[in-house]
Amino acid sequence: MSVLFPVVVVGSGNMGAALARCLRQANPDGIIFGVDPDKSRLELLEAEGVLKPAVDDWTLPKGTLVLAIKPQVLEAVAALLKPRLGPEVVILSILAGVPLARLRLAMGTERVVRTMPNLPLTVGAGATAIATDGCSPDLIAQARALLQPTGEVVEVLESQLDAVTGLSGSGPAYVLKFLMALEDGGVLAGLPRVVARKLATATVAGTLRLVSESGEEPDVLRGQVTSPGGTTIFGLQALEQGGFTASVMQAVQAATLRSKELGKS
Ligand SMILES: NC(=O)c1ccc[n+]([C@@H]2O[C@H](COP(=O)([O-])OP(=O)(O)OC[C@H]3O[C@@H](n4cnc5c(N)ncnc54)[C@H](OP(=O)(O)O)[C@@H]3O)[C@@H](O)[C@H]2O)c1
Repeated sequence: MSVLFPVVVVGSGNMGAALARCLRQANPDGIIFGVDPDKSRLELLEAEGVLKPAVDDWTLPKGTLVLAIKPQVLEAVAALLKPRLGPEVVILSILAGVPLARLRLAMGTERVVRTMPNLPLTVGAGATAIATDGCSPDLIAQARALLQPTGEVVEVLESQLDAVTGLSGSGPAYVLKFLMALEDGGVLAGLPRVVARKLATATVAGTLRLVSESGEEPDVLRGQVTSPGGTTIFGLQALEQGGFTASVMQAVQAATLRSKELGKS
C-alpha cells in the first residue's frame, strides 16, 4: 500500500522533522506540509525541500496527519486540528504513553493508529512498533507504509507498548552505555582513547551488520569467536560475574514498569 498524501506533520521537533525527512526521501513527489508554532523550524524543512509551505487556512479533506507534538499539548492542538480534517483522514500518533482511547477522544475519530518509535529514526534506522488491536487492516497498512522508510517496523498489541518503550524506546541509551564501557575497557587495558573509541564503535556496528547480513542466530556467531580456553570465554565469564545479562534484562523490565506508571499519571 502507498502512503495517503497529502501528509501533514504536526510538530516539527526532533521526531516530526526526522519522520518528514525519511518520508520525503522515499517519496520525492508527495505533498508534505508541517504545522508548528515555531515557523523557523518549518522554514528550515521547507528550504531543505522536505516540506511544502502550508497556507494559513489549510484543510485536509483526505490524506494523513502525523501527531509529533508533546503529549501535554494534545487536547489543545486537537481542538484546533479537528475542524480542518475530513472523515477519511488517517491519523498516526508517535506520542509516548498516550493511550489510543485518549487519542481517539481528543481527535474525535476512530481512525487513529498509535505507534512507538525510537531516536535512531532520526537517521532512518529506527525501530517502531504499531499497536494493532482495535485498528482496521487498512489503517495498519497505512501506518506501515508511512513508517517503512524510517527503519524497522513491528506490530504489537497496545498492552505491549510499555515493553516496547522499555526495550527499543530506552534501548539506545543502554547500547550507548555498553559502547562507552567497551571504550573505557580499552583505555583500562592501555589503548589511547581515540583508538579505543574507533575500535569500540566499529566493533558494535560491525557485529550488528554481521548479525543482519549473515542471518545467523547471535548465539551461533558468538560461538565462532569463543574458542575453548581462549580469550573471549574469559571475557564472557567476567561479564557474567558482573551480572551483565541480568542487568540488561532488569533495565528493560524497570523501564517497562516506569512506562506503565507514567501512563497512569
Ligand atoms: N524523542 C524521542 O526519542 C521519542 C521517542 C518516541 C516517541 N517520542 C514522542 O514524539 C513526540 C515528539 O517528541 P520530540 O522529541 O520530537 O519533541 P520536540 O522536539 O519537543 O518536538 C515537539 C514539537 O511540537 C511543537 N509544538 C508545540 N505546540 C504545538 C502546536 N500547537 N502545534 C504544532 N506543533 C506544536 C514544538 O514546538 P515548541 O518547541 O515551540 O513547543 C516542537 O517543535 C513526543 O510526543 C514524544 O513522546 C519521542
